[in-house]
Amino acid sequence: MILSHLARSIAESPTLRLNEEARILRERGEPVINLGIGEPKNKAPIMAVLSSASKLNAGDIKYTPPDGTPSMKKAIIRYTEDNYDRIVAPENVIVSSGAKQCLYNLFFSILNPQDEVIILAPYWVSYPEIVKMCYGVPVIVTPEDGTFTPRISEIERAVSSYTRAIVINSPNNPSGAVFSEQFIAQVVELCERKNLYLVMDDIYHRLVFDGLKAVPAYHFSNLDVDNSNIVVINGISKLYGMTGFRIGWVIGSRRLVEVMTNVQAQTTSCTSVVLQAAAEGALLGLQSIVENLRLSFENNRNVMMQELHSFSGIHIIRPQGTFYCLPDFRAYSGNSVELSQFLLRKALVVTVPGKEFGMEGYLRLSYAGSVKDITTAVERIKWALDPNSPNEIYIGDRKMIRDWL
Ligand SMILES: Cc1ncc(COP(=O)(O)O)c(C=O)c1O
Repeated sequence: MILSHLARSIAESPTLRLNEEARILRERGEPVINLGIGEPKNKAPIMAVLSSASKLNAGDIKYTPPDGTPSMKKAIIRYTEDNYDRIVAPENVIVSSGAKQCLYNLFFSILNPQDEVIILAPYWVSYPEIVKMCYGVPVIVTPEDGTFTPRISEIERAVSSYTRAIVINSPNNPSGAVFSEQFIAQVVELCERKNLYLVMDDIYHRLVFDGLKAVPAYHFSNLDVDNSNIVVINGISKLYGMTGFRIGWVIGSRRLVEVMTNVQAQTTSCTSVVLQAAAEGALLGLQSIVENLRLSFENNRNVMMQELHSFSGIHIIRPQGTFYCLPDFRAYSGNSVELSQFLLRKALVVTVPGKEFGMEGYLRLSYAGSVKDITTAVERIKWALDPNSPNEIYIGDRKMIRDWL
């Protein structure tokens, strides 16, 4: 069978694979706890459900304009004004099937073959693969050991004549880190000076704890949206817990949005009218939904930190947002893929290997589940790895004895 070199070089999504493994084990009756989850567990907001149901009831389900329905764009313009303090025009907005598709359309629109995109480790697993799918070259900048933030000088050193963009995701998947205002200001200045796109993946931007704020990059630029090289990616997946609705959007200059619209028109034509209606319902409905999710993740973060701190041997930086943390497990193993498989086999806990995020020796643990899941999962991990923890544990109704330490 003939398959393209490029397509064959694209890695499977490790998080989706792990979710599938967890589902199969659970179907077999195994009491698996999934700390690999990348989505809130809430029900869809009622306004989203009613808004899409009214479209379905009307039965008028047709193509929409390729860049989004006028009413959805209006809702995004209002959202941008409320949350970013920026007035944008409908021509600055394009709606796509999730932030993932936004990123694909964007890189397809800005990269020539061999152009480079700077990605900061730890990074979301899909960035390098999407860049490669658009014939670009991901250039990874690593943080100083013991931190999740690279030095601005390291980022500047990575800029070459091929660099087209820098991607920033704050709050960050997988670390939960929120980059400082000073850092964002420096990246804005660097991108303006070197004429690079600054891609702000803001998909978690309101899930921030401890009274902090993820300050919009726009705050550090005097340029209006049409002259700015800041491109904002956002969506409803994480903030409203609406991952299955597959709606995301991009705010950028008119020229960029025009090109991205042509790309989208020739691939998916447009985004589903029913799902855009749902997203519109979420954006215009009660915003306490986002606040309630934020509060429950902050509480879960506190529980997760408390549990992990009683675990000698791991090093953890307290996350300030999202629903993930990224503890350093190098005291137990330098191979995060093997460690993750070991924990799944022995402790029935799903974790995501840090290697997938450019942080070998770390594991990403999600606290989007219940408090009970968090406490039980950490207890099981401790039992599997820490010789100071009790030798026996109950997993489901099975008594397990640690015989490997
Ligand atoms: C950092 C980041 N960006 C983008 C996405 C994709 O979001 P969407 O569901 O809107 O495609 C995710 C999903 O996990 C993510 O973590």
